[in-house]
Amino acid sequence: MDPIAAFDQFEQTALTAIAAADDSAALEAVRVEYLGKSKGRLRDLQSLVGKAEKQQKPLLGKRFNEIKNDVTAALDARKENLTAPKAEAAGLDVTLPGSPVEFGRRHPLIQTIAEFKDIIGRFGFSVAEGPEIEDEHHNFVALNIPPEHPARDPLENFYLAVAEKSNPAANGGPAPRLLRSQTSNVQIRVMEQTEPPVRIVSLGRVYRPDTMDATHSCMFHQMEGLMVAKDVTMAQLKTVLTMFASAYLGHDVPLRFRPSFFPFTEPSVEVDVLWDESGWVELGGAGMVDPNVLAAVGYDPEEVSGFAFGLGIERFCMKRHQINDIRRFYENDVRFLRQF
Ligand code: DAH
Repeated sequence: MDPIAAFDQFEQTALTAIAAADDSAALEAVRVEYLGKSKGRLRDLQSLVGKAEKQQKPLLGKRFNEIKNDVTAALDARKENLTAPKAEAAGLDVTLPGSPVEFGRRHPLIQTIAEFKDIIGRFGFSVAEGPEIEDEHHNFVALNIPPEHPARDPLENFYLAVAEKSNPAANGGPAPRLLRSQTSNVQIRVMEQTEPPVRIVSLGRVYRPDTMDATHSCMFHQMEGLMVAKDVTMAQLKTVLTMFASAYLGHDVPLRFRPSFFPFTEPSVEVDVLWDESGWVELGGAGMVDPNVLAAVGYDPEEVSGFAFGLGIERFCMKRHQINDIRRFYENDVRFLRQF
């Protein structure tokens, strides 16, 4: 046979065999048969080049290389094709548009907390953390809340049934623990560990066994603030809160103090802000730190004075976004959450 014809025939049969191989093992057999180093049929072609007449050699040599490259490329392509996952076999239509990527977002309360920290940080308040499982000393006693105070009623608090052995009370029994009912516990924890001056906020969860309704939840969030130094005044308290509320609302807003009572402040006030045309909104409580509280942490009430405030975080977020039910925050309904 004319060597050129033999070459063509080799190429034809090799390519057909490659296309017909329908698994990796069959393909490997084809490779060995045609391109195998010792007995492969390509070697026969090579010997044809060797035996050819002198003037035919360059042409045959070129054709030989072409065929070798083509067949090798066809083998590689087939191999890749066989090992690639079979999209159609898996019932996949790879031409369909992909599903859209959804971006997560931060929970509206977490956004509010971040914004609060940012604003109050500009007034020099640093952020302190405190435990959510607290003892009576930090949640009540050091805050000047006596045992007979209604806030200490077990029905008004989440006491834990399991007391920790590692913390025996003075009488040898386990110390009662509760989920903190207010972030004011952090005031005590910070003052116990720091010499004045102190300028902190603490933002976090508090727990009370309230019946859930549109404005009550048994868990909600507060921002506690505390500033203690020489000559801290109530005027400074009002300035800080006015600037805070104005920064949050984006314009100057009037603030009003109404006389109130908290065991840990004297005098005590409720704080209202004139939010918009709809009127005053109560933000929380505040006052001058009671000398008993300063004394309880070893501060000298003759030397230093302080103010404190406790604001409800949900309230701000609800008012700003016209959320009419506090329970929405805790249901994790994406239809609600993705609006923020
Ligand atoms: N702890 C109070 C509450 O939960 C709020 C509060 C009032 C905090 C006055 C304060 C304060 O720091 O000075 O109702």
